[in-house]
Parts: sequence; C-alpha cells; structure tokens
Amino acid sequence: MTAEILRDGNTINVRGDFGFADLSSMLAAIHSATEKAKYTDITLDFEHCTSAFARDMIPLCAQILQKRRQHIYAHLNLPNEPKLKRLFEKSNWAHLIDPRRNDPAPPDFYNTHIPATQYHSTDEQSKIVNQIVENILGIVPEMQRADFQAFEWAINEVTDNVLTHSFSDIGGVVALTLSKDKKLVEYIVADAGIGIGNSLRSGAYKGIQDVQAVDLAIKEGVTRDKKVGQGNGLFGSFEISHNSNRYFKIRSGHAELTSAKKTLRISNLSVPYNGCLIAGEIDFSIPGLLADALKFSGEKHESPFDYIDHKYHADDQGILRFMVKDETNSFGSRPAGTIVRNKLRQLSAISDYRKIQVSLEGIALISSSFADEAFAKLFKEIGPLTFMGKIELVDVSKVCKDLIDKAVLQRMKVD
Ligand SMILES: Nc1ncnc2c1ncn2[C@@H]1O[C@H](COP(=O)(O)OP(=O)(O)OP(=O)(O)O)[C@@H](O)[C@H]1O
Ligand SMILES: [Mg+2]
Repeated sequence: MTAEILRDGNTINVRGDFGFADLSSMLAAIHSATEKAKYTDITLDFEHCTSAFARDMIPLCAQILQKRRQHIYAHLNLPNEPKLKRLFEKSNWAHLIDPRRNDPAPPDFYNTHIPATQYHSTDEQSKIVNQIVENILGIVPEMQRADFQAFEWAINEVTDNVLTHSFSDIGGVVALTLSKDKKLVEYIVADAGIGIGNSLRSGAYKGIQDVQAVDLAIKEGVTRDKKVGQGNGLFGSFEISHNSNRYFKIRSGHAELTSAKKTLRISNLSVPYNGCLIAGEIDFSIPGLLADALKFSGEKHESPFDYIDHKYHADDQGILRFMVKDETNSFGSRPAGTIVRNKLRQLSAISDYRKIQVSLEGIALISSSFADEAFAKLFKEIGPLTFMGKIELVDVSKVCKDLIDKAVLQRMKVD
C-alpha cells in the first residue's frame, strides 16, 4: 500500500493510499520545497488520496505545526472522496494542517476516534489524557477504569516523555482510535523535538547512532539521566503492546523501530523524522497487562483508611492529611510529581506534624514518572528513616502501591 508523491513547485500531490512508506517521501518533499526551494507557503494536495491512517498523519501534522512556527504555511486540499474528506476533518488533521480553512474537530466522532489534539503543558496533557479515558469509559460502558490501566499508564508515560525530553516547540500531538469491537486501542503521540537519539546522546549514551538509541530506549532502565528518569516509560509501553500481540512503533531521527507479530525490526532511514513518533496498539481484553509489563511482585491489596479532611492542619495527634488529588490535577507527569514532592518536603520539615498521611484517594492510577518524581525522589532526598517515620501513604490502590514501590526500589539503586 503506497501512494505516489510528487512535488510540483510549492505543491505536493498525493495520489493513492497514503501508507507508512509514504511519510518519508512526504517529509522529503516538504524539506525540498521549504529548505531547498525556499517556499514559505506550500500546498499539500490530498485530492487524489484514497486512504490515510493516523499513525502517518499525526507525525505529518506535528511537522507541519513546526513549519508554521517557522512561518511556513501549509494549505491543504482535502480528498475528493467524501468519506476520506470527513475523516480528515473529524480527526482534526485538516485543522492542525490548515487552520485558516478548517475549524477544529468536535471532541469525539464515529464513537471510536479521539481527534488529534495538541498539548504543550502538564495541565493540557492531563486534561487530554483524562478526556481520552473518560471518552473510552463512555464509549465502552461495560469497561471499568481498571480494565484499561495498561493503556492509561502507557499514554501517560509517552505523552509525559514529550514534555520531559523532547524540547518540542509545538509540544506534542496525541490521537486515539478504538477498534470496532472496542477492545483494541491504538494511540499515536508525535512531537517535533530533538528526538530519542539526540536525547540519549546528550546524557549517558554519547556517540550512539539513532538506530541504537531506539533499540536502547525500549530496554528497562535506559534513560538519558538516571537522576531524572528511570527508563520505564518506553520499556513498559513496548512490553504492553508486545504482550498484547499488537504493533508498537517508534520513529525518531533516522531510526524506525517496529514490533509486530512478535518480530522486532529496526531500520536506518535516509529521510529523518525531526522529533519522535510513538504509536502502538493495546488489547485491553487481556488481563494483567500492566503488572506483566512491569513485573510487579504479587502483594496483597491494602484496605483504604477513612477520609479525614484536614488540609494542612494537623489533628490533635499531630497527624496531617495530605490529599494528593487536591494538590495537582495530573498524576501522569514529572512536573506534577515535582509539585507534590516539593510540598511534601516542606511539610515534612515542620516539626508540629508528627505524621503526614499522604492520601491517594480517588486516584485510580499514577504514572511511573509521577511516582518517581513525587515519592521515590522524596524518599531519597529526606532519607528512608525520616520518610518512613514521617510519611504514610494511605488510600493507595494496589497498582499505585506497586508503581511507587518499583520507583523507590529503582531510585535507591541510583547513586
Ligand atoms: N519524545 C521524546 N523526545 C526525545 N527523547 C525521548 C522522547 N521519549 C523518550 N526519549 C528518550 O528515551 C529515553 C527513554 O525513555 P523512557 O520513557 O523509557 O525513560 P525516561 O523517560 O528517561 O524515564 P521514565 O519514563 O521512567 O520516567 C529518555 O530518557 C529520553 O532520552
Ligand atoms: Mg519516560
């Protein structure tokens, strides 16, 4: 499945099925029109395009957004075929590429897609991730939030990576598709930042090629800087798709990694993707995906404590109740975790408070990055004895407890 992509001056024509091999030709054509021929406005002509998929269109949208920041405007000619035209509009590709002529898409369509959404900050990231989760709950009423924990964890990790590592001027673009039987979810996250190769080379992995970088990035514990990250995000996301028997894909710099049907292929591509694209499918009818991916040890569920509302006021026993959900509205990113850690560090230094009960009430899931930033780093900063003497985690679901335990154990191994 491939299209014919031809540039004629500042117009790039797409004819046929726009498939995965065509993103490179499209990026090369955009590069030659804007960098070599120096056009400051280009037209992407999809009139004769016959099919297109989010995993190729989302990275294209990210690159076009980046061009717009550099004052290069892309006009879009929508496909002639009415169904495909509607897909371009309702998936928000049309708006992201050419906002002058296309309004933003409404939040949900066909009941199975979540339109491509751009996010720049932790707040926007948590808003869109929550919206995605709420939408799935609405679309698949027989599902419980716990049933797609693996997906929620992965989407948090991958969208957080954009904010933590990419230095992408346009932030990230995230989109989602649910399969017709509603048990399979495909997510796509793209940015226009420095890419995985540059990120790892800037830290602990000097001199590696892009192909080695993507191969390393999906390994457990591989992170640019062990003081910042733990190297769980891409490892776990890869494992979740792999254990679902579904595809997982990274495209970054000159490298492409595709895992499908239990085979892993890494190729060196001549046309670079300036940023990072992560796409994957998860089958959430398979139980225990997250635990299997992150190899939790099986421990008993702790029963939640009763809720006592004492924000920043200790009771007469000197016990302060700290409600994590009131401190931040995101439990998926490192910046949100930092806010929680900083507050807890300050509170733990106040001697009036004998004990701080940190309640995770109402929080179904946190990301590993959040767990590391909020709790594991605090454990290290204030020391195990102070932490254990002063801080008590309460109302913690088993999965959150496992994620925090894992983060603390890993952080303790870092110098
Ligand atoms: N969007 C991105 N842009 C640039 N580099 C990235 C991106 N996503 C991941 N990376 C690189 O890949 C490495 C591995 O990512 P991964 O999510 O597995 O670990 P981490 O983010 O470092 O730690 P953790 O996810 O446990 O907090 C990162 O340290 C970073 O160097
Ligand atoms: Mg990460």
